[in-house]
Amino acid sequence: MKFLDLAWQHNQIPYLKEKIFDIIEKGSFVLSEEVANFEREWANYIGTKYCIGVNSGTDAISLALRAIGIGAGDKVIVQTNTFAATVYAIIQNQGAPLFIDIDKEYGCINLRHLKEVVHKEKPKAIILVHLYGQACYGSQVADIAKENNIFLIEDCAQAHGAKWEGKKAGTFGDISCFSFFPSKNLGAMGDAGALCTDNEEYAEKIIRYRNIGSKIKNMHETEWGGNSRLDALQAAVLLLKLRYLDIWNEKRRNIANMYRERLEKLPLLIYKEHPSAYNIYHQFVIIVEDREKLRDYLSKFEIPTLIHYPSPCHSMKPFIKYALGTFPVAEWINKRHLSLPMSPHLSEDDVAFVCKKIEECLKDEKKPEFYSER
Ligand SMILES: Cc1ncc(COP(=O)(O)O)c(C=O)c1O
Repeated sequence: MKFLDLAWQHNQIPYLKEKIFDIIEKGSFVLSEEVANFEREWANYIGTKYCIGVNSGTDAISLALRAIGIGAGDKVIVQTNTFAATVYAIIQNQGAPLFIDIDKEYGCINLRHLKEVVHKEKPKAIILVHLYGQACYGSQVADIAKENNIFLIEDCAQAHGAKWEGKKAGTFGDISCFSFFPSKNLGAMGDAGALCTDNEEYAEKIIRYRNIGSKIKNMHETEWGGNSRLDALQAAVLLLKLRYLDIWNEKRRNIANMYRERLEKLPLLIYKEHPSAYNIYHQFVIIVEDREKLRDYLSKFEIPTLIHYPSPCHSMKPFIKYALGTFPVAEWINKRHLSLPMSPHLSEDDVAFVCKKIEECLKDEKKPEFYSER
């Protein structure tokens, strides 16, 4: 069984290879009409005025922070359970990350801890990460940001098409950032990313930042410039795959429902789907007391599992000096969380097989228990 099957995805899409050959024929590989077409369609899909295609999710976050003016020593809030790239993007701008603990029911940012840190530390920005394909507390975090005059950046690398209170992830912040790394719900055939915003000034700045300071060739206009351009080939692949995104997200939701039905009664915990959320299950995560035992057992039956992520960011070597306070939920969950195979290629039989093997392995185990005021 595969955790994720990109060949399966590509085989669903007619004219994919023809499109790639077409671009080779045209010979226009960087930015170009393909990128402009994708930007227009992605802005339309998310529901923002502007979209700027870039070369990765990491650069998208870094450029978003630059556009809102994050600089030396500026405090930027980020939840500790994210991919390290979110935190590196803060450090690239010489900002100081302020970590927030996890919500144990939903696996997203802990609102109570967020409010405490906002009041105590007066940060300049919050990065809300919609981890695992959820869009938890989008409007609540946007309200906290507005009330306290703080910028809000959304990291939507894992949340293409996720919704909160009926609104898409990527429409709550000043700027939202997407990764199209191949394994994402919408993935390119290499590195790719994008930023979305309704703010013309930020869009104009980012268009220049990504292309050595120029919008028009050799008209270098911004104080800072880099090379974060999106390729035509990636944009064309993304545009074709975009037609399948909602269908594949629905398939992921069905798989998640099947997992829930079969696993809920077993001695493990599953993050709930909030009644206000439409999760798109980039990952399906369970929490078990003896994770290594379960992983070993599943691997005997060629069932792959992954850990997202092996350590919370506050305890990673490069970020440890920024870890103020305590993170009891993140630390407890991090020793126990496990991502099960999740991808639209999985059949009902595949999911039933995974569940059966989990049931066999956990039959004499106890449900994990944890109590924390947070
Ligand atoms: C939550 C999160 N943020 C940021 C990134 C960085 O994106 P990229 O790998 O495209 O630079 C990723 C991608 O892995 C991610 O999952």
